[in-house]
Amino acid sequence: MGEHRRFETRAVHSGERRGGQGENGGFSPISTPIYASTTFSHADIETTDRILGGEQQGYSYARYDNPTVVALEEALASLEDPEGNAGAFAFASGMSAMHAALTAAELGPGATVLAAEQLYGSTATLLLQIFGANGVEVRFVDAYDLGAVEKRVAELRPRAVVIETISNPLLRVADTAGVAEVTRAGGAALVVDNTFGTPCLQRPLELGADLVVHSATKYLSGHGDLTAGVVAAGPPYDGALESIRKLVGGTLGPFEAWLAHRGLKTLPLRMGRQCENARLVSARLASNPKVAKVHHPALKDHPDAEVARRVLSDSGGLVSFELEAGGREAAFAFLNALELCVKAPSLGDIYTLAIHPATSSHRELSPTRRERLGVRENLIRLSCGIEHPEDVISDLEGALEKS
Ligand SMILES: Cc1ncc(COP(=O)(O)O)c(C=O)c1O
Repeated sequence: MGEHRRFETRAVHSGERRGGQGENGGFSPISTPIYASTTFSHADIETTDRILGGEQQGYSYARYDNPTVVALEEALASLEDPEGNAGAFAFASGMSAMHAALTAAELGPGATVLAAEQLYGSTATLLLQIFGANGVEVRFVDAYDLGAVEKRVAELRPRAVVIETISNPLLRVADTAGVAEVTRAGGAALVVDNTFGTPCLQRPLELGADLVVHSATKYLSGHGDLTAGVVAAGPPYDGALESIRKLVGGTLGPFEAWLAHRGLKTLPLRMGRQCENARLVSARLASNPKVAKVHHPALKDHPDAEVARRVLSDSGGLVSFELEAGGREAAFAFLNALELCVKAPSLGDIYTLAIHPATSSHRELSPTRRERLGVRENLIRLSCGIEHPEDVISDLEGALEKS
C-alpha cells in the first residue's frame, strides 16, 4: 500500500491483494483468504531449498510464515510506521508479543530492566517471574514522572525501559518522547506497550521508541472475539523478533489473523467513536453527585492533561471513576445494576465494558500496593464502545441511582 496514503486508507487496504491482480486465472480475492495450511509446496525442491534458506521470499511452514498472517502484519506495520522502516510481527497473544519484545531487547542474565510501576500486572509478573528467574534485575519507577525516569536510567544503566502509553486503570499518559530521549541517552532500548493508545492516538516509533507492543485482543481487532499480540520494530530488533517467534512458536493462527485484519480496517472509525463516547461519559459522570472522582485524560483536573494534548491525537476510549459510596459492596452493587454495559475484564471492544479493577486486573496485588497505585475498592473502569452515547450514559446513571 502506498505509504503516502492516509491512516484511514491504509487501515482498509494495507496487506490486501498482495499477489497482484488476476493471479488465480483471472480473479483476485479482495480480502486475503484464510490459508489453513501447515506447509506450502513448490514446483521444485530447489525453490523450497531457497525459501528455507532465506534466499528467496516465500512460504514453507506455518510456524514461520503464513500468507493470512503476513497480510495482517503488513497492515499493522503500515499503521505503526508509515515510513516503512519497521516490520510487524503477529503473536498468539499480547503476552507472547511482550515476551518476544523483551527477549529481542536482550534482557538476559546480568541485565537490568527499568519498568513502569503502573504496568499491566501480567507484564510485571512476566518480568519478575520469568526474566527475574533468568538473572535479570527488575526495577520499577513511576513512569509518569519524567524526572524520576531520567534519574533511575542514569543510576541503573538498564538495558531496557518498559512503559505503557496510557496506564491502567487511572489512565496516566506517558511522555513517550521525553522517556525515549532519556532512555536513548542512557543507552537503553525503549519498549512501549501501546495497547490503550493504538496507532490512531500515538505512534511511539515516531517518538523514539525501539519496540512497540500491543495486545491486539483489544482495540486493534476490536470485537472481543480473538486473542492476539503484535510487536512493531525496525533493525536490529526485527531480525531477532522473527527468530524468537520461529523458535518459541507463539505464532498467530490464520483464522485469528484473518479476524484481526478484518477488525483493523475499522480501527479509525471505532476509535473515533470510542474517544467521543469516553469524553461524553466522563463529563456526565463528573457532574453526578454519586461519583466522587472521574479519571480521563480530557478532563482538566487529570494530572497528565497537558502531556496528553502533546503526545496523543485524542484522549482515548477509557474512563475510570470512583463512587461516592466507598467499598467493594457499593462497587459490586453498581456493576450488578448495569443493564447495557457488559461486565467483562477486557477493553477496546465495540461493546462498552465495565470492570472492578481491585478484583480483576489488580487482584494479585496486596491491598497496600493497590492503595499506593490508587486502585481503591470504589474504583470502576469503563471501556467505551461504539453504542449511542446517550444509551450508555442512561445505563450508567440508572445503575448509580439504583445502587
Ligand atoms: C496493556 C496490556 N498489555 C498486554 C496485555 C496482555 O494481552 P493478552 O491478554 O492479549 O495476552 C493486556 C491484557 O489485558 C493489557 O491490558
